[in-house]
Amino acid sequence: MIKKTTVRTINKLKSDGQKITVLTAYDYSTAKYLDESGVDMILVGDSLANVALGYDSTQKVSMNEMLIFTSAVARGVNRALVIGDMPFMSFNVSIEKAMENIGDMIKAGASAVKLEGYSDYILELIKRCTESGIPVVAHLGFTPQYIHTIGGHQIQGKTDSETEEILYKAKKLQEAGAFALVLEMVPEESAKYITENIDIPTIGIGAGRYCSGQVLVTDDLLGKFSDYHPTFVRQYANLKDVITNAVKNYVSDVKEGSFPSENEVFQIKKEEVKC
Ligand code: KIV
Repeated sequence: MIKKTTVRTINKLKSDGQKITVLTAYDYSTAKYLDESGVDMILVGDSLANVALGYDSTQKVSMNEMLIFTSAVARGVNRALVIGDMPFMSFNVSIEKAMENIGDMIKAGASAVKLEGYSDYILELIKRCTESGIPVVAHLGFTPQYIHTIGGHQIQGKTDSETEEILYKAKKLQEAGAFALVLEMVPEESAKYITENIDIPTIGIGAGRYCSGQVLVTDDLLGKFSDYHPTFVRQYANLKDVITNAVKNYVSDVKEGSFPSENEVFQIKKEEVKC
């Protein structure tokens, strides 16, 4: 029987000192392969705005779009814990509207949600989720949904006081009930300090080696998304080349008449046409 990954599994990985692996997925087949390959958690990230939908900002993806991708991913997963990323303005209007949207994310198949940012309102929302049995992953450091106030893709936590501020927020998010914290684009020393001073696991992206786990955008890791290449990504494959080479071969085979071949067509057998 397949053992489902739960919040308890994630806590145990952290307490056993084992690293936690997280990757993004947006579709059924990719989710299935990630699950079969042993990743602990699969994030249906709002990065799908750029990577799967071609928008120029994660702020453009809607709640309905996120639900379609989340349900596709959930159908492909038997074991990993699926996290649905709550998109821009889906959780900031009112607690009631946020809880409705978060409920829809869980109904679509997510077992947890991720909420970007920090405010008293977000602390209250995390408390409400926790009371309703919905696990929450918090997200600090660089938070793309707040790009206009941050003022660009900036590394966060560069000074002692900035690091202390992130740690303060991390502790408050933990106290409110978040079970894990994504730290994005934070210097390694700062991420290490934060990780050592909170109880919940930190999941780093561009946050160095000392986080409790790592998350990457799968299309970056596989070399499929090519619009930009963050420096913290390790690329394990070059799917862009695999895809373009395969498609070039297909185009030339069709043009020159070598596809389909005799073995790739349906033939009416002689006896089938006999009366
Ligand atoms: O949307 C996403 O993929 C994310 C990760 C980068 C953490 O939030």
